[in-house]
Amino acid sequence: MPQFSRFISIEGGEGVGKSYLSHGLQTRLQQLQYEVLLTREPGGTPLADSVRQIFLNPPEKPTALAELFLVSAARTQHVQKLIRPALDLGRWVICDRFYDSTRVYQGDLAGVDSKVLESVIAMSVEGCHPAQTFVLDCPTDIAMDRVQKRTKQLQLEATNRYDEGSREMYESLRKGYLKRVAEFPERIVRLDASQTPEQVLDDAWAHVKQCFKL
Ligand SMILES: Nc1ncnc2c1ncn2[C@@H]1O[C@H](COP(=O)(O)OP(=O)(O)OP(=O)(O)O)[C@@H](O)[C@H]1O
Ligand SMILES: [Mg+2]
Repeated sequence: MPQFSRFISIEGGEGVGKSYLSHGLQTRLQQLQYEVLLTREPGGTPLADSVRQIFLNPPEKPTALAELFLVSAARTQHVQKLIRPALDLGRWVICDRFYDSTRVYQGDLAGVDSKVLESVIAMSVEGCHPAQTFVLDCPTDIAMDRVQKRTKQLQLEATNRYDEGSREMYESLRKGYLKRVAEFPERIVRLDASQTPEQVLDDAWAHVKQCFKL
């Protein structure tokens, strides 16, 4: 795979606007006549989507390692069957969550040892890395408020086990993602997600144009 593939991942905690930004970037790239695969994790293939259902609504509480293996099984399938083939065809790939979410949720939150975590991540991606990652970051109150509003709009009780998480969980997520921004400064750009959706998209787009020389 070329070292500088057209692979972008969008990261951040619950309700920060990842899905909105993923769609926005897809539209802007399509306006330039590019072919864009928009996908998400866990998921992206029939098997990985089935894993997603189990992962988000597990029939029993998974251990930390079980969580890691579930998302990693989904990821290796996703990378091998969908992401790598799309990149090899010269398409753009935008992925709503990728391995930085594993570092935060299964590492920081669930407590998997970082050496184990990194080794499983490396096995599951086999060298297929995003060229650019956006971490959407905003104060916890804003993220919690958005999730609550969205849940109300959709008239759902709560969409998954993380949406109904405590303030403490939201704070840990935020801290975890900021840790990755510091850890991988060449790949990850932090975006101020407290802005309007259009402003966030404009910021991201400016970085994409610069990073990929569009
Ligand atoms: N910048 C923004 N300003 C205000 N509201 C926003 C912004 N971005 C997204 N929203 C709204 O907040 C809610 C959450 O956004 P979105 O679903 O894109 O977040 P997400 O990060 O994908 O969440 P999840 O982690 O649950 O998938 C949605 O109702 C969306 O319309
Ligand atoms: Mg989303």
